[in-house]
Amino acid sequence: MRIIYFFFFTTLVLTMSIAQKQQHTNSDIHSFANSTEVSVKHLGLELSVNFETKIISGHAMLMLNHKKKTNKLVLDTRDLTIEKVTLDEKEMPTKFSLGDEVKFLGKPLTIVITPKTKSVKIYYRTSPNAGALQWLEPSQTSGKEKPFLFTQSQAILARTWVPCMDGPGVRMTYSATIHTRPDLVAVMSASGNSGTKKSDGVYSFEMEQPIPSYLLALAIGDLQFRPLGNRSGVYAEPSMIEKSANEFVDIEKMISAAEELYGPYRWERYDLLVLPPSFPFGGMENPRLTFATPTILAGDRSLVALVAHELAHSWSGNLVTNATWNDFWVNEGFTVYFEHRIMEKVYGKAYSEMLATLTLKDLKSTIADMGAENPDTHLKLNLLNRDPDDGVTDIAYNKGYFFLRLMEETFGRERWDSFLKTYFNENAFSTMTTEQFLEKLDTHFQIKHSRSFTEKLKISSWVYGPGLPDNCPKPQSDEFDKVLMQVNSFLDGTQASKLNTEGWTTHHWLYFLRNLPDSLRLEKVIELDYAFYFTRSGNSEILSEWFQRCIKVNYETAFGPMRNYLMNVGRRKLIKPLYVELAKTPSGKAWAKEVYTKARPGYHSVSYNTIDGILK
Ligand code: BES
Ligand code: ZN
Repeated sequence: MRIIYFFFFTTLVLTMSIAQKQQHTNSDIHSFANSTEVSVKHLGLELSVNFETKIISGHAMLMLNHKKKTNKLVLDTRDLTIEKVTLDEKEMPTKFSLGDEVKFLGKPLTIVITPKTKSVKIYYRTSPNAGALQWLEPSQTSGKEKPFLFTQSQAILARTWVPCMDGPGVRMTYSATIHTRPDLVAVMSASGNSGTKKSDGVYSFEMEQPIPSYLLALAIGDLQFRPLGNRSGVYAEPSMIEKSANEFVDIEKMISAAEELYGPYRWERYDLLVLPPSFPFGGMENPRLTFATPTILAGDRSLVALVAHELAHSWSGNLVTNATWNDFWVNEGFTVYFEHRIMEKVYGKAYSEMLATLTLKDLKSTIADMGAENPDTHLKLNLLNRDPDDGVTDIAYNKGYFFLRLMEETFGRERWDSFLKTYFNENAFSTMTTEQFLEKLDTHFQIKHSRSFTEKLKISSWVYGPGLPDNCPKPQSDEFDKVLMQVNSFLDGTQASKLNTEGWTTHHWLYFLRNLPDSLRLEKVIELDYAFYFTRSGNSEILSEWFQRCIKVNYETAFGPMRNYLMNVGRRKLIKPLYVELAKTPSGKAWAKEVYTKARPGYHSVSYNTIDGILK
């Protein structure tokens, strides 16, 4: 009898605690939101932007969708000051509390609601050092006269400027009214952008398709608009608009190519916003309005693969969204794959295979740096108690790309494309876990039933195993074979000026530089500079690659221009490797610290958090 009681009791306690856990957990380890009980279906923002105090203030109205009976709403916040919370249209004040600060995640905001509450309104303001926001002085812009503000919400920074359910699994529509200075233009990841100044400084926006919070975006500055096609155009500061429009002329071709591949573009317009150079990423796929770094304006359109990438996110990411940041490769791997397919369609296979070859080269060196057994080299990540930013490596992007390319090569392009088209269509406006994707793949291609497929693909070593599996596809580029011949010839003693580099593009040069051995001596580096003027290159990617080389041999001539580069460019992918290389020697590290002290105030938090870690 006792024993039966004991079992009964423990089972009861266990079931109760599991039930309770389920109530409070949400499978997203980077969000406090109780989205399994109640979720947010619409966000209404009314915000004033103050460039003097560097504070955004106003209110956020959240419309709720009840799933279970609950008396509370839990939201994500970080560094926000909450002034007041009210319920429904009557604006009945309600109780709320901010929980303890958790590293990376901020504080949960718990609001008392009833099971009947339709909406809550939160009056709040941001902190001057909100992680998503970068407030630029006029000197950091191209025009040098007006200040600039931009947001970067991915991965979990939306909560530093909007109280919300800040995980990729919650989708909402949004509307916004932004009050700013009348001499500036506000734009958002929504409809309502126009690029003309409003004399009252009030701008209104509407996003009618439901999106996750990481795609909320706002920028304010001295902006102009230039149409590029029927449904596309570019926003930039006046002095950058011509150069930008010229660089992105192929945008309509890219949109059509993408649609031919995987179905209609579902966001009506595709515009680009060219930001000042401190923007920490190459590009950010904010819906309807990709944010882009000016460092891709090479003048010769050689870096536009980035536009193909951000455009591809309009399907992979913005339509079918990684369920959690542990599934980040579901966003980025698919996007790199799609990007290469767009590039192939618009510019031809020879070009896209060059890009794929660089992708593989980068992936191999990333794996070598991370260590072939490092669990962060698995496609499926475990970012528990960590910043999702730790998952932003070449693994999600490039290992993800080659995994999907392996599918294409195994099933044949036709079958694979038809699967992908259906995948984007059937899962539009919802989320995807790694496991759900693998399940769909198996159902469609009957992998587990076919010994040959199982052996060919080795799915679990790609997804749950480290390093690069031995069945990784091999891109083939005749152009790059020629580059390797020139590398060898140079190493065998041919003078740099005698190398056959006729017709070489940015990518030939990048491949050339990336294939020089670490041991290359100073005289050889100088010889290359005299022959090809790398130090004076106007191409941001070539410069980043070249400066790494210069640091290795302490080529002094390059340090002045490199200082200039580090002071101006805030794009993490370009500057991080320079700081890493500099930090390898005591004198390099001292020089880096000296430059960084001056450069840091000009970087976005995403970049300085990374560089702080390197130079600490
Ligand atoms: N969505 C990413 C940028 C991002 C990722 C921001 C994770 C925050 C967290 C964007 O699409 C991207 O991948 N940008 C790349 C472009 C490149 C791969 C063509 C970049 O910024 O370098
Ligand atoms: Zn991306």
